[in-house]
This record gives sequence, structure tokens and C-alpha cells, in this order.
Amino acid sequence: MLEARLFNKEKTSLNLQEKILLKEEIKDKLRVMNASIICHYYVDGIVQDLAIESGGIVADSLEMARYGQRSSADILIVAGVKFMGETAKILSPQKKVFMVNNMATCSLDVGCSFDDFNEFCDNNPSRTVLVYANTSASIKARSDWTVTSSCAIDIVEYLASKKLPLIFAPDKHLGNYIKKMTGADILNWEGHCVVHDEFKSFELKKLSKNMPEAEILVHPEAPNSVIELADCVGSTSQLLKYSKQSKCKTFIVATDNGLIHAMKKSSPKKSFIEAPTAGNGATCKSCAHCPWMEMNDLKGVLNALGGNAEEIIVQNETSEKAMKSITKMLNFTR
Ligand code: 13P
Ligand code: SF4
Repeated sequence: MLEARLFNKEKTSLNLQEKILLKEEIKDKLRVMNASIICHYYVDGIVQDLAIESGGIVADSLEMARYGQRSSADILIVAGVKFMGETAKILSPQKKVFMVNNMATCSLDVGCSFDDFNEFCDNNPSRTVLVYANTSASIKARSDWTVTSSCAIDIVEYLASKKLPLIFAPDKHLGNYIKKMTGADILNWEGHCVVHDEFKSFELKKLSKNMPEAEILVHPEAPNSVIELADCVGSTSQLLKYSKQSKCKTFIVATDNGLIHAMKKSSPKKSFIEAPTAGNGATCKSCAHCPWMEMNDLKGVLNALGGNAEEIIVQNETSEKAMKSITKMLNFTR
């Protein structure tokens, strides 16, 4: 995380004119190279806008995976974090996949090493292994199913209906939420997201009391005490959809503040307020923004198209096994 912070601190910011010129240069290269940008909602708004303007996509992790697979581009530029690039490569081995920043990872991925996870699964051999998309290719290869926050409940309901005991990794908050919603027999891995773990229920209650008209939107990687206060719990795209459809005019958003860019664009007359990460008991390690998502910038997109960038490579055996786990999710949610 320190590496990401230093990188972000040392980034030189461009003025508006430089940004416009750079965006046009990138769009030309994307056209000539038949390349497409797949961007996550937590990435800087200017990169999100570039993805849309150039015919790419901004989406949650499930839709990013689907889009990469169906895209007719020869080259995929992934503006997000490493597991998203790996998933794109696994689903499209014939395409070249580049990250906007190869150092961009995820605390959930980093906190779940293959050896430890393999041992955990070996010690519980009767359990079906479900892993969150926010994991490395090798962890997915060790699993029976991959899920994202937008489909985890539906998939676990299906598996629970077959009375299957489960392992869920690596996010303990999402695992607990799924357990609560489905009643499934789940053994959780104890990982957490450095961004969502920081939302504070005590402070959120205070804020909500001062603006009772506001609805509270929460990503299920947040702690249970925060989820309990929510009007809507969902993946990034589910929260965005809710904010568009709700009659409410003000929302408190308990997820990475990068999502507020898309929320404001689709509902310009509504107000979006960041849920508190500061206050009682706060350490404010992330301040509602993922340090790795922040590493994605316009210069990185240009560099990824420049010919010297390092391609995402996933070993064949790992890729084939992980593909099975991811494909089950894609078929289930079709
Ligand atoms: P979504 O699948 O909801 O986009 O979440 C991805 C993620 O990394 C959340 O922190
Ligand atoms: Fe990982 Fe959290 Fe960043 Fe999402 S916001 S990529 S879960 S560290």
C-alpha cells in the first residue's frame, strides 16, 4: 500500500489542455491498434470518461469480465487492479491484455496467498470452495466457483439449496453478509478490503440523523454494522442503478468515492455524500479511495499502448482451471 501511496504522491498532474490532448492521442492509438479500455468505477473520472468516449466500458467486476470476453478488440487495456486484468486474460487467452498500472493490486488479493489458502482448503476437504473475484488466478484455479458481489447471494442460495457446506474467501465482511442473507454453512477466510473496512457505523448514524432524507448505499465489503444501516446493499453497478431509479434526491455512499463520478453523471440533480471513514475509532488508512485504483491515470493508459508495457500472462494450467471456476459464474448469471 505504501508503494501505491508514494506512486500517487509523485504523479505529476496535467493541466486541462494537456489532458484533452493526451485523451485525443490515446483515442487515435486505440483505434489504430484495435484496442479497448475496460475500466472500473473506482478509477479516476477522467479515465472513466475516456473509456466511454472511446467505445470501451466502465463497469463492476462481473461486467468487466463479460465485456472483455465478448469484445472484438485485439488488445484489452484494463484500468483497475491486477485481478481484473488476470480475469480478462483467462477469459480471452488469444487477446493481449495490459494493465494501466502493473503495480495496482488489491488488499484482498494480497492477503490470500496460494500456500495458505491451499492448506485451508485441504484442511476442510468436504467444503465446496467459493472465491471472490478479488483474488489471484491461482486462488481461482484452486476454487470450485468464482463470485462477485453482484451475484454471490444468488450463487450461494443455489449451492445452499443443495445442502453444500462452503468455504468463502477472502473477504470476511462479504462472507458474513452472504451467510446472513442465505443461511448457508460458510467457513470464512479472514481478509478485508482496506477501503471498505474503514467505514464507521457510529459516525454514519450521526450523519444520517442530521440528514434523515438521505438514503444510505453500502457495498457488501463494508462491516456488518455499516451494512445494517443501508437502504441498498450491492455491487458498484447495483448501487449506481439504485441511485438512478430511487425517488430520493440525496445519498450517503459507503463505497470507494470513485463511484460518485458515475452517480453524478447519471443523476446530475441528485446529491452524493461520502460516508464517514473518520471520527470515533478511525484510522483513516484509505479515506474512501482505493490507493491501487488511484494508480490508474491517462499517462498509464498511453504507456500501456506504447509497445514496451508488460503484458498480463497467466500460466496455461492455472488459466484453464481458473477459467472453469469463472465460467460457472458467467453461465449462472447469463
Ligand atoms: P464490484 O464488483 O462491486 O465492482 O467490486 C469490486 C471491488 O473491488 C470492490 O471493492
Ligand atoms: Fe481491493 Fe478494496 Fe481496492 Fe476493491 S477497493 S480493489 S476490494 S482494496
